[in-house]
Amino acid sequence: MVRSIPLRGGTSIPQFGLGTYKLAPEQTQRTVEAALELGYRHVDTAAMYGNEREVGLALAASGLARDDVFVTTKLNNPDHDPDAARAAFERSLDALQLDQVDLYLIHWPLAHSTDYVATWATLIEIAATGRARAIGVSNFQPDHLRRIIDATGVTPAVNQVEIHPYLSQDPLRALHAGLGIVTEAWSPLARGKVLDDPVVEGIAARLGATPAQVVLAWHLRRGDVVFPKSTHPGRLAENLAATTIDLDAADAAALDGLNRDERTGSHPDHVEWP
Ligand SMILES: NC(=O)c1ccc[n+]([C@@H]2O[C@H](COP(=O)([O-])OP(=O)(O)OC[C@H]3O[C@@H](n4cnc5c(N)ncnc54)[C@H](OP(=O)(O)O)[C@@H]3O)[C@@H](O)[C@H]2O)c1
Repeated sequence: MVRSIPLRGGTSIPQFGLGTYKLAPEQTQRTVEAALELGYRHVDTAAMYGNEREVGLALAASGLARDDVFVTTKLNNPDHDPDAARAAFERSLDALQLDQVDLYLIHWPLAHSTDYVATWATLIEIAATGRARAIGVSNFQPDHLRRIIDATGVTPAVNQVEIHPYLSQDPLRALHAGLGIVTEAWSPLARGKVLDDPVVEGIAARLGATPAQVVLAWHLRRGDVVFPKSTHPGRLAENLAATTIDLDAADAAALDGLNRDERTGSHPDHVEWP
């Protein structure tokens, strides 16, 4: 049901997974376990979310083989300095109770307050140990991508950025396609804000689908990787079933037309540390 997309580094990523931002530690284990039981095989977490330990407990409790679940985590903003990044990576593996993550990302570029090229070089070092099967970035703008690639000769496997029908990010996605970077769409439902849009509701009513399913099917048709977050078992199942919905070109074009370059989260140029 869920397509796998090849990644630089020789691995591949399930196109659909579970997001865990704002999953409180006490909700995390049961939510991740419920998702794995439903058939999710990709979990996106981050040191910043404070729930890696509970994600790890859910993975262990699931009884699934390590290779059957794709796990992403991210380097937190205070840890960009190379020594801090090495230590932070160890803490993430320890919290997740894993020997290896499938994907390790720089969470934010912090372009005005850090040397993100040195941070990227540290992730390259980590990947060389085999303990991150693939490495990538998040919230990188075109000039950040070009700079790390020019400086190191290593292209990130993915760039994880905010994308939904109100922020379609087509110029950035085209750059990714040209560079061979897989696009991951965070907040794919715009944290719920697109779900009562009349265009989304109209397509959903006609197809007998839910608004969330229509929006997720739009992302999947575009080829992006998505991991919507929900704490509700019913919604976890509803969202996963979006992988069975085929939107036609006319419906996809109508959803493309909703773009208004509107963010629900922070702009990468405005996130700095400290
Ligand atoms: N790299 C980054 O900087 C970054 C930033 C933000 C997010 N992310 C990642 O992307 C993931 C997804 O983004 P997100 O969590 O911000 O937002 P999202 O997945 O777009 O939306 C989550 C919100 O939508 C609701 N929802 C989920 N399924 C629904 C459905 N079928 N019908 C109605 N409402 C539904 C959830 O509520 P309930 O839980 O109540 O169902 C929650 O409030 C995150 O969890 C995280 O892993 C990364």
